[in-house]
Amino acid sequence: MAKSDKRDETKSSVQVRQLGGHFAAEVRGVDLSEPIPDSTLKDLKNAFGQYGVIFFRDQDLTPEAHIRFAERWGEININRFFQAVDGYPQIAEVRKEPDQTVNIGGGWHTDHSYDQIPALGSILYAREVPESGGDTLFASMSAAWDALSDGLKQTLSGLRAVHSSRHVFGAASAYKAVADLGGRIGNAEQATQDAVHPVGITHPLSGRKALYVNPGFTLRFEGWTTAESAPLLRTLYEHASRPEFTYRFHWEPGSIAFWDNRATWHYALNDYAGKQRLMHRITLEGEAIGA
Ligand code: SIN
Repeated sequence: MAKSDKRDETKSSVQVRQLGGHFAAEVRGVDLSEPIPDSTLKDLKNAFGQYGVIFFRDQDLTPEAHIRFAERWGEININRFFQAVDGYPQIAEVRKEPDQTVNIGGGWHTDHSYDQIPALGSILYAREVPESGGDTLFASMSAAWDALSDGLKQTLSGLRAVHSSRHVFGAASAYKAVADLGGRIGNAEQATQDAVHPVGITHPLSGRKALYVNPGFTLRFEGWTTAESAPLLRTLYEHASRPEFTYRFHWEPGSIAFWDNRATWHYALNDYAGKQRLMHRITLEGEAIGA
């Protein structure tokens, strides 16, 4: 092999372009179907920490390649509730068939806040997407925190919030009540997780403060009733979902969104009735979070 043909493992080809005003970036110059050199992984980790959600386009991933890429970041969380891809328990299917009306993730939430150690994030790979519709919204909880008044930040700094999986995935959940869920979500008896986390966390990678409550899984403030908590939670949710803290991603087959659950919320839009959407999701285990 001529000297000039030799791949330089120390030099990364990663190009990162910020997309939203506060967060979200597109990454180019990486083929995730190939093993990732350390130099590339380092650049991807920096981008992930800085932007909260990173997107890739035109990727052609087998389930094995998806798993191999995920394992470069840490341990894979095997999802308790979602149907898995056949033969790949590490990969959860996020599916909606043309005749189904309910989508998965159709409201602002951050995954796994009900776990004692919330998941780091998810790598969502688009296999089949409608030509129009089916976008995913993301919101930056670091930007939302930064924009709060000093007074409210101070109040929130003394608070912790209770999160649960029970009302979403348990026997009495809204998902369970929907007839066309068609086996996409199951194991209601395993929805036993409750966790208490600070309302303002220090992000383990970026060191930035982030708002850590979400409409999907947060029930109330610790030591407060649900009714007492509702007005302040509503105020925080209205604030955090302000358009300037959000970014809307339009999927194409082969797109990937890799989001950080400790820094962002997401919301899968359900505006593609009669069309199919099939995503493969791998979720990664996280680390302890604190104020
Ligand atoms: C999810 O909430 O994990 C699904 C997001 C999506 O399908 O866009």
